Amino acid sequence: MSEIRNIVILTGAGVSAESGIDTFRDGGGLWEQHRVEDVATPEAFVRDPDLVHRFYDMRRAAIQEKEPNPAHFALARLDAEWPGELLIVTQNVDDLHERAGAHRVLHMHGEHLKAWCTSCDVRSVWREPLLARPPCPVCQARSLRPDVVWFGEMPYQMERIYAALRQADLFVSIGTSGAVYPAAGFVRDARELGARTLELNLERSQGSSWFHETRLGPASEVVPQWVDELLQ
Ligand code: APR
Repeated sequence: MSEIRNIVILTGAGVSAESGIDTFRDGGGLWEQHRVEDVATPEAFVRDPDLVHRFYDMRRAAIQEKEPNPAHFALARLDAEWPGELLIVTQNVDDLHERAGAHRVLHMHGEHLKAWCTSCDVRSVWREPLLARPPCPVCQARSLRPDVVWFGEMPYQMERIYAALRQADLFVSIGTSGAVYPAAGFVRDARELGARTLELNLERSQGSSWFHETRLGPASEVVPQWVDELLQ
């Protein structure tokens, strides 16, 4: 594909599903097990911080036992070998892209393995539970929260994402339902800016009509196939 130079890849929970990390809206997914209003809003954190900490402490511990799958490794290979611009914009808060070796990764919804101090505003790498209110490693205040973007909060680095979309020749969406904005709107933005758009997913997402091409199947199969094609 000689005309493709700059690529933006959006990933969602589906890319980590085969690593054993629950998605949000599939059968038995996280939002069937927990009410968003109870664990993933700033209001929930004010109302019942222990419940919120228990939820994220459980997830933070769980992802540290999981391993990247062939989809993560294929994207890490693309990151290493692609000569043009490439940005992996992930909605995922796990670190499996990085553990597979990818570097050009942007976490627009935050990261489980970071804690954010609401006193000194510093984000620190964090692997332990927060329920017991451990002190901030910088200011010692006991006001650490999960560094995850909750519903109603602004995703991170939106300007950098839109700058990459403006340059993109190809926009690829992998393992996301297209249910949550602003991420769900990227395909339309990219298409209207002239990019080719490709969807790799187990089933058609809500924004499917905006994709020039859709390939259905498990990420661990369709992503390596696509990367092999691109790099051949
Ligand atoms: N391979 C490819 N796609 C898969 C796989 C798989 N093995 N398993 C599931 N999928 C697809 C599903 O078909 C679905 O379209 O992944 C998508 C997962 O959708 P969601 O559970 O809605 O997750 P996501 O799109 O990442 O959610 C977006 O919502 O809850 C918030 O902040 C949270 O980042 C999250 C955002």
